[in-house]
Parts: sequence; structure tokens; C-alpha cells
Amino acid sequence: MLTGATSGLGRASARFLGALGMTVVAVGRDPRRLEEVAREIEIAGGTAYPEACDLADLDQTADLAERITRRLDHIDVLVHNAGALLGERTETPQGHETTVAVHLLSPHLLTVRLRPLLKAADQAKVITMTSGGMYTERFALDRLEMTDDYRGSVAYARAKRAQVVWTVALQAREPAEGLDFSLVHPGWAKTPGVADSLPTFSRALGPLLRTPAEGVDTLVWLCSLDPGIPAGGRLWLDRRPRPFYRLSSTRVSDERLAEQGTELLAWLDQAIEATK
Ligand SMILES: NC(=O)c1ccc[n+]([C@@H]2O[C@H](COP(=O)([O-])OP(=O)(O)OC[C@H]3O[C@@H](n4cnc5c(N)ncnc54)[C@H](OP(=O)(O)O)[C@@H]3O)[C@@H](O)[C@H]2O)c1
Repeated sequence: MLTGATSGLGRASARFLGALGMTVVAVGRDPRRLEEVAREIEIAGGTAYPEACDLADLDQTADLAERITRRLDHIDVLVHNAGALLGERTETPQGHETTVAVHLLSPHLLTVRLRPLLKAADQAKVITMTSGGMYTERFALDRLEMTDDYRGSVAYARAKRAQVVWTVALQAREPAEGLDFSLVHPGWAKTPGVADSLPTFSRALGPLLRTPAEGVDTLVWLCSLDPGIPAGGRLWLDRRPRPFYRLSSTRVSDERLAEQGTELLAWLDQAIEATK
């Protein structure tokens, strides 16, 4: 199951996963693009289940989880790839800042609600698409939703940093032989998302950026690793584990990281509890 399957990195991944003969639940917002990606998966040799959902809206995300639970008996890999850097601060129907909803609340809700299907697979994987941008920000729960002085690039980097804290916390909570939670960074790839949100960067560095196909190599590799090969609790780039920190100002001890994880999971659990 792959979110953000209708554009850029997700769309390239969908085609590769189809070529590996997988059944791909492709999640996106736009019905036309969903139809196109479903066709691409089928042409590549896979089976496509297109699913429309705006992941900013937790009610829609809950409905999606319910539909999937009725339709499938297990999920081998859940990829949280959907994401966006939003220039303006907006709030979701549930009153959350949209970046936080799409990158954290909705992935948490999906992961919790789809847990029975993940547990029904042989050591399922949950893979989250983070970004090198997260290296610039430290984690602070009270600075996530950015009620004052919103800046899209900062909100994005904080949400991506929080995805690291979330992944490490879930992996630590997981018993041996349980689910495997990892993160992947694509490198910088020329996608519609980058062209829209960082036009100058995209134009200036265009020739140096990866193609979407190059950007998803590690994600597709992780998806197709045999169950039981441990990738969890780590951040992957170019098929190698990478550090969680590059700047001393963002670095915390392992003990503090675990405390941050506990704090974040408690907040997320509470935030999704209100959802039907
Ligand atoms: N490209 C890079 O260099 C780069 C670097 C680091 C990390 N990333 C991460 O990689 C992921 C994919 O990015 P991309 O570059 O491929 O961008 P993209 O071309 O804009 O694709 C983003 C995908 O996310 C979906 N999405 C966004 N908001 C959504 C929402 N509210 N509900 C449902 N789906 C939503 C989009 O759906 P629609 O088609 O409906 O818009 C689209 O399918 C993101 O998490 C991004 O942060 C990208």
C-alpha cells in the first residue's frame, strides 16, 4: 500500500512495484491521476487497487483504512510517501496544521488501524519517506503545528524530523519478529512537488537532481527485501543506513530520543482518538 502514488516519487515507485508483480494499493487524491497510475501498474505487470483519499482529512483516512480492511486480508508493505511543502499555513477539517496532518497524523492513523492486516503478513514493513530537510530541525512537539510565524520549509522540516522520532519509537515498541519500521530519503529528485514548492532550487539544480526512478531505488529495494531481513529503526539512502543527525544543534541522546518518541506517540494517539 503506497500513499502519494499519483505523482513524482510515488508514481515511479508504483510502476517499479508493479513490474515486480506486486499488488499495489495506490492512494491519491486526483481520480484522473489515480486511473493513470493504476493503468501504469497493470501495464508493468502488477495488479492495481486505486484508492482516493485526501490524507489531510482524518475522517477520509479512517474511511480508507476501513475500506482496505474490508478488501484485503494482509498488507506486506505500507509506504507513507505522500507529502508536500506548503507555502501557506492551512488547517484541516479537524483543526490541525496540514503539513502535520499529512506527514504524521494520517500515517499514524493508517498504521494503527491497518495493524491487524500488517500483523497478518509475514513480518510486514512500514516505510516512511523522510527528507534530508529534517537535518535542519530538532524535534519539539510544541513547535510542530507552527501557529505563529509559519514558514513552509520549516514546518516541512519539523514534520520530517518528527517522522524520524515516530519511526524509532514504533520500532522500539515492536517485539522481535514484529513489524519493521524504517525511513528512506530519496536524495533530491526532480518531481512536480519540488518544481512547485521550490521552483528556484528546481531550476538551478535541475540537471543535478535525480530522476524520480533514481530517487526511489532504495524505497523499491526496501519494499522487495525478504521478510525478516531487518531494516527497521534506520534511515536509508542509496541502500545504506544514514545518521539521524548532521548538526549538533539537533542532536539528542538515545534516552532523550526515546522520551520524545513516547511524547509524540501519546499526542498522536490522543489526536486520532477523536476520529470515528
Ligand atoms: N523529490 C524530492 O527530492 C524529495 C526529497 C525528499 C523527500 N521527498 C518526499 O517524497 C515524497 C514524495 O514527494 P514528491 O517529490 O514525489 O512530490 P509530488 O510529486 O508532489 O508527489 C506528492 C504525492 O503526495 C500526494 N499528496 C500530497 N498531499 C496529499 C494529501 N493531502 N492527501 C493525499 N495525497 C497527498 C500527492 O497527491 P496529488 O497527486 O493528489 O497531489 C502526490 O501523489 C514526499 O513525502 C516528499 O516530502 C521528496
